[in-house]
Amino acid sequence: MPTPIEIAHLTLRQRCTGLGIPTLAIDGAGALVPGPHATLADRLVSTAAFVDPLLAAASLWAGQPAPGVAELFTGCHAAPIPVEERRRRNGYTVALAFTPAMLSQPAFFEACSAAGVAHQEAHAALAPIATQTPESIAQLRSFLRWMAVDVAQSADQSEAAGVLTSELSASYEQLDAVYDIGRAIGDLTNPPKFVGATCKRLRAALSFDFVAARFADDPAVTPDLRGTTILNGRSPIRDDEDNEELASRSLGVLMRLTPGRDWSIIEPGPDSPLAPASQTLVQPLIREGRVIGAIIAANKTGSDPAISSHDTQLIHAAGGFVNAYLENSALYLEQKQLFMGTIQAVTASIDAKDHYTRGHSERVSHLSELLARALGLPDREVEWVRVSGLVHDVGKIGVPEAVLTKPGRLTDDEFAAIKRHPEIGHNILRAVAPLGPALPGVLSHHERWDGDGYPNGLAGEEIPLIARIIGLADTFDAMSSNRSYRSALTREKVLAEITRCAGQQFDPKLAPLFVRLDFSGFDALIAKHAGDAPSRQAAA
Ligand SMILES: [Fe+2]
Repeated sequence: MPTPIEIAHLTLRQRCTGLGIPTLAIDGAGALVPGPHATLADRLVSTAAFVDPLLAAASLWAGQPAPGVAELFTGCHAAPIPVEERRRRNGYTVALAFTPAMLSQPAFFEACSAAGVAHQEAHAALAPIATQTPESIAQLRSFLRWMAVDVAQSADQSEAAGVLTSELSASYEQLDAVYDIGRAIGDLTNPPKFVGATCKRLRAALSFDFVAARFADDPAVTPDLRGTTILNGRSPIRDDEDNEELASRSLGVLMRLTPGRDWSIIEPGPDSPLAPASQTLVQPLIREGRVIGAIIAANKTGSDPAISSHDTQLIHAAGGFVNAYLENSALYLEQKQLFMGTIQAVTASIDAKDHYTRGHSERVSHLSELLARALGLPDREVEWVRVSGLVHDVGKIGVPEAVLTKPGRLTDDEFAAIKRHPEIGHNILRAVAPLGPALPGVLSHHERWDGDGYPNGLAGEEIPLIARIIGLADTFDAMSSNRSYRSALTREKVLAEITRCAGQQFDPKLAPLFVRLDFSGFDALIAKHAGDAPSRQAAA
């Protein structure tokens, strides 16, 4: 690609050609620059008859701020226009102007024979422009100087426009990356995913061989990031992308950081633990006034290996996002643990009203989660199934304890009281906004596939999936446990009963999946509560 100075040179010569003025060009070392031989005049002036005296004259121009017009031979005048790059002279564009006398000079005849052109033909071609006078040559020189200034300014402007365009596109890339990272900040449930995506986006926007995030083994770091190194790109250590050496060297980078500092650059050298051959850009991650991690980028790709202000600005912004994310996700985790702890305490206290149902909600929650996973539901929905399983019987809080724990047959009224628990639970939990997606499981877990269930007599797929899942787990646990009115059934009988009732009580697609679940976790929960309840057995 031509440089701006080459373009300026070329533009000047093209303008002269357009005006019918032949030109020659001399480079910074004083040698002739081969030019276009577009016209007969170009061919003639490129011969030794013109070039030799020109180079001799040019050798005197060095050091002259504005070299004047030189007469190369009688009637042949050369007007040099210095070409400058950053105030350094880098050659000349030379415009040639002829008086009529030139056409009869021996040098002109020499040029004709050297170019292989008949004298008459050359004469006819040049006569129209060989009309200058000493005055018009002086005017031409002034005009050419003005044109040179104009061309130089245009070149500067186009260079500035080029710089501006590349700055703008880098800024756009930067903005786009910041937007992407900012958008991902909403999902607080998966810190490793957020940090991984941030490293990936940074690497794409900044053209580094690798971008890594290293976290200290510090309680202020969320547990699933604590002590980890997340790498995007080619490992700076070996082909193995996540090895111990990488972990320990990135820890070395972390150890040298102090809080309160923005990004820093580690210069190449043996002191640079991750990328000894290139500059390493490090953005500390801060929490509670301590450095708890860092984003590290090195081995820049592309033509310029130096870290730019775009790199530092973007990594600094990304560091801010990661800091905010870590803060929010820690708060979220805290809130979630508090929330789940409260729910577990409430449900456990309800289960405990009846010795026979102790641990029931936890087991139903566990089995419902297994079935939801076996169905291939996304993680978020599995989580709602789990929560719904935990709270499905909350409504029993509104059923008299005497009815819940009554041995023997229930009266119609007592049974009606029991059957109200799904609606009672639904009404209680409706006030807890974050539980919204779990509510259908609470309201409809006693509906049956054949429509004979309660409270609304829904059938088939009218029953929300979450309720069909919990209904299965609920019945399995009830059959597997002792009740005041009967003993636990064996695992074999329970599974046979579930298979038999597929399409009647249970969703015929869910039942076969359910009977193939791994019940070892369920048995462990039974064992956990075995000490609490009288004569409970793990129905193996
Ligand atoms: Fe229930």
